[in-house]
Amino acid sequence: MSLQEQVAQMQAQSKDELEQLRIQFLGKKGEVTELFDEFRRLSKEQKAELGAAINALKNSTASRLQEMRDALEQQAVEEEKADLTRTPDPIELGSRHPLSLVKEEIIDIFARIGFTVEEGPEVEDDKHVFGMLNFAPEHPARDMQDTFFVEKEEGVQKPTDILLRTHTSSVQTRVMTSEKPPIRVLCPGRVYRNEAVSARAHCFFHQIEGLYIDKNVSFADLRQALLYFAKEMFGADTQIRLRPSYFPFTEPSAEMDISCNICGGKGCSFCKGTGWVEILGCGMVDPNVLESCGIDSKEYSGYAFGLGVERITNLKYRVKDLRLFSENDIRFLRQFEAC
Ligand code: DAH
Repeated sequence: MSLQEQVAQMQAQSKDELEQLRIQFLGKKGEVTELFDEFRRLSKEQKAELGAAINALKNSTASRLQEMRDALEQQAVEEEKADLTRTPDPIELGSRHPLSLVKEEIIDIFARIGFTVEEGPEVEDDKHVFGMLNFAPEHPARDMQDTFFVEKEEGVQKPTDILLRTHTSSVQTRVMTSEKPPIRVLCPGRVYRNEAVSARAHCFFHQIEGLYIDKNVSFADLRQALLYFAKEMFGADTQIRLRPSYFPFTEPSAEMDISCNICGGKGCSFCKGTGWVEILGCGMVDPNVLESCGIDSKEYSGYAFGLGVERITNLKYRVKDLRLFSENDIRFLRQFEAC
């Protein structure tokens, strides 16, 4: 039988048989392939005569193989009795992470009173996290027990001034050095602290920083903005109280409590019977901070606040164990599908 006839009569019952045939004819040492080796040794005249025929044989072999491949695939589909017109199974939609939901809600509320969003780097330098925010050189937050330093050389942790930011207040200094007042920004982001992981503490969590710098900004403006936020977030009956506190970058400083939204202020285990829960730190931006960022503290003043997103989420959805936020347990995450 001629090679042409053999090719024309090729039959394959399976993919393996098909592959055998491909190797037999078109493989490296295949019968058709070898014709090309012989072809090279022919004279010019013979080449002219046979070239087209050999090429045609190669092409018809390839197309016969393809035909059989298509037929085998078609047969497989039919055997499976797959209904190719059937609507596919629905794709399961994921749900928003509770921290994202709360973050977006907070951003939404402050957007209504003119705040826009700015972000900054998580790997920061000492200057932006501490120095320009009026932290004294020996402040304990600069200690390795509280802060993760980034090794410059393997195994050498200190001295280095590169670290994972411990708070989003670092974004304040970046915004104030790159923009001119009036400034009205929210800076959401992840922060890191060298803490043992437990239900109540984690080595990373999320904060939102607020900053407003303009002429004649007063503590009353700060209080009003925070009261608005508390009522929007936790309901119109919510009350706030501001307790004096200390932060290096604000003067005066305060911590804000809201009336416990779980017991309505009557006192429960959540608020430890006090009727109040602390939700954020705030204050008037210290003139030293304004000056270190190149803003004239005689002309401008401002307020700042910083809140923990996990804390607000805990109040809103009663998530008591911080670890749940980062374990990605689908049973936990599914509970927020409707939110
Ligand atoms: N950076 C503070 C912290 O991480 C939170 C904070 C307090 C931010 C007072 C502020 C502020 O802007 O004014 O604990």
